[in-house]
Amino acid sequence: MQFSQLIAARRSVRAYTSQPVEAGVVERILDAVSSAPSAGNLQAYQVCLARSATARAALARAAGGQSFIEEAQLALVFCTNAGRAAARYGKRGTTLYAVQDATIACTYAMLAAVDEGLACVWVGAFDEAAVRQAVGAPMDWTPIAILPIGYAAESPPASPRRALDDLVHEVEQ
Ligand SMILES: Cc1cc2nc3c(=O)[nH]c(=O)nc-3n(C[C@H](O)[C@H](O)[C@H](O)COP(=O)(O)O)c2cc1C
Repeated sequence: MQFSQLIAARRSVRAYTSQPVEAGVVERILDAVSSAPSAGNLQAYQVCLARSATARAALARAAGGQSFIEEAQLALVFCTNAGRAAARYGKRGTTLYAVQDATIACTYAMLAAVDEGLACVWVGAFDEAAVRQAVGAPMDWTPIAILPIGYAAESPPASPRRALDDLVHEVEQ
C-alpha cells in the first residue's frame, strides 16, 4: 500500500472477526517493529506477544474491560526496557528515550498491521501492574501501549482532527 493511502485508511478498530492471523504476517509486523529508530539504536523496549485467549482476556480486564482486546486474534504489549537506556543515557534514557522507543515501535506495528490488511487500536488506558502480570513482565519493563490486532469487523469513519492552524506553531524568528 502507498504510504499516503495507508495513513488515510487507518482507523481505530474496536471489533474483530475470528479469522486467525497467519504466522508469517505476525513475523512481518515484528520485523517492521524491529526496524523502528531508537535512541542510540539501543531499542530500549520489549514487545510481549499475547496470542492465547487467556492472556488476551487478562489484558482486556487490565484495560478496564475493553473486551475487543480479547476479541482480536493477538495483542502486542509494548514496554520500556529502562535498564537498556539507563546504561548509556541515565535519567533521560529511562524517563524519555525508553518511552519514545516503545512508542515509535508501537507506531510501526500499527502501520505494518494496516499494511497487511489487518486492523488495530492503540490502547493506553490500563492498570500498569495488571498488564505486567498478564504478560509476565518484570518490574523494570513499564507497559506503554497495548495493540490488539485482527481482521476488522467494523469500518469506522475517520475521526475529526484539529485544524493545522491550531496544531502548528510557525516559528517567526
Ligand atoms: C496514547 C493513546 C491512547 C489511547 N487509548 C485508547 C484506549 O485505551 N481505548 C481505546 O479504545 N482507544 C484508545 N486510543 C485510540 C484513540 O481513541 C484514537 O486514536 C482517536 O480517537 C482517533 O481515532 P482514529 O485512531 O480512528 O483516527 C488511544 C490512542 C492513543 C494514541
